Amino acid sequence: MADDHTRVQDFFTTRAADWDTRFPDDGPAYAAGVDALGLRVGDAVLDAGCGTGRALPALRAAVGAQGAVLGVDLTAAMLDSAVRAGRDRSGALILADVARLPLRSRSLDAVFAAGLISHLSHPGPDLAELARVVRPGGQLALFHPIGRAALAARHGRPITDDDLRAEHNLRPLLARSGWLLGTYTDEDDHFLALAVRTR
Ligand SMILES: C[S@@+](CC[C@H](N)C(=O)[O-])C[C@H]1O[C@@H](n2cnc3c(N)ncnc32)[C@H](O)[C@@H]1O
Repeated sequence: MADDHTRVQDFFTTRAADWDTRFPDDGPAYAAGVDALGLRVGDAVLDAGCGTGRALPALRAAVGAQGAVLGVDLTAAMLDSAVRAGRDRSGALILADVARLPLRSRSLDAVFAAGLISHLSHPGPDLAELARVVRPGGQLALFHPIGRAALAARHGRPITDDDLRAEHNLRPLLARSGWLLGTYTDEDDHFLALAVRTR
């Protein structure tokens, strides 16, 4: 577990400073991903694996000043970049592992997680921990500003059947972790899986 975390932290620490400049045109895709959560003013929402906080302004806009926006990430350098970009004005930033969230059970209305799931070494237990902190009926958005096939092409590798985000893998994984998969979209310009916290 510690080795897995160190690998993730090392990977993202070297990328933190220029993370936002790598894909500068992703803003509208993030706004649309947040929009799909259907947040209401006053809601409490977590950005799990928030990185540099690219989604935080859209999440704050959705829940308003009365709402609560939290960003959790394992990599301190990513959170430092979030602060430098002023994203801490949109939400509270917490250095933590999504496997052990310092949050009360059922205290949130929704979780937004962009680009997180493929970096988790224990996705089942981690998704179950996200389910723990969300009220029954609350929502989870697993988002990426690029689809699976386009991402595989960018990395010069084929898309494989064992990909965690393939619908036939993701649906049962979510079901075992306390989530019911609803909408599933995998297009070149975005990936979005929307799930509801089961009772
Ligand atoms: C691909 S980046 C995405 C960052 C941001 N959500 C975005 O869309 O720009 C994945 C992020 O997840 C974080 N992460 C990976 N495993 C994590 C864990 N177990 N707990 C919390 N954060 C984690 C990494 O540190 C990294 O910042």
